[in-house]
Amino acid sequence: MSIEEKLNELKKYWEANNIPNISKINAIFLRDLIKIWKFKNILEIGTANWYSTINFALELKKTWWRITTIEFSSRTYNIALNNFQDFNVFKTIKAINWNALDIIPNLKENYDFVFIDWMKKRTKDFLELIWKKVKKDWIIIIDDVIKFKEKMAWLWGYLEKNNIKYNIIPIDLDDWILMIIK
Ligand SMILES: C[S@@+](CC[C@H](N)C(=O)[O-])C[C@H]1O[C@@H](n2cnc3c(N)ncnc32)[C@H](O)[C@@H]1O
Repeated sequence: MSIEEKLNELKKYWEANNIPNISKINAIFLRDLIKIWKFKNILEIGTANWYSTINFALELKKTWWRITTIEFSSRTYNIALNNFQDFNVFKTIKAINWNALDIIPNLKENYDFVFIDWMKKRTKDFLELIWKKVKKDWIIIIDDVIKFKEKMAWLWGYLEKNNIKYNIIPIDLDDWILMIIK
């Protein structure tokens, strides 16, 4: 079985068990973005069981670039560790098991692609923290913006107040993403 087939098999299992991963179509779309934009240094908030992380890493690995991913829950993080061993992406992924709100101010790098898929109510706080680490023309994507629209009430006001332009892209019925090109 190829690595991609294995990932598809795992995805089917996780779907059957209601794990809140990005959809497969969203994973394909985001991987295409990585290919086209040639991102070098990705930051992801919300690793869960690594489905999105492994997808991103499989693209980044082709060009020897990397992803930092942060997960709050030790339980999820440790399940995740078992998952990603099979995909040979150790060198591509830097995984941090901590609260992203504490970690982000201490990150020293800049990120050309930031993927926010975590505690929806705090999305605006995260965006504020990450803003200085993303340079002009780089990308920030926030997942599930329509499904959890109410939980993200602070976000909409923040975007408007700061005149931040964005597009909402309906990837599929489940996953609508918000894209900011800074
Ligand atoms: C929707 S899941 C991520 C799914 C994953 N991106 C995927 O598609 O495979 C959101 C994750 O964010 C984590 N999370 C929530 N609050 C967090 C925080 N403050 N810092 C880091 N991770 C957090 C949760 O534990 C959960 O595993």
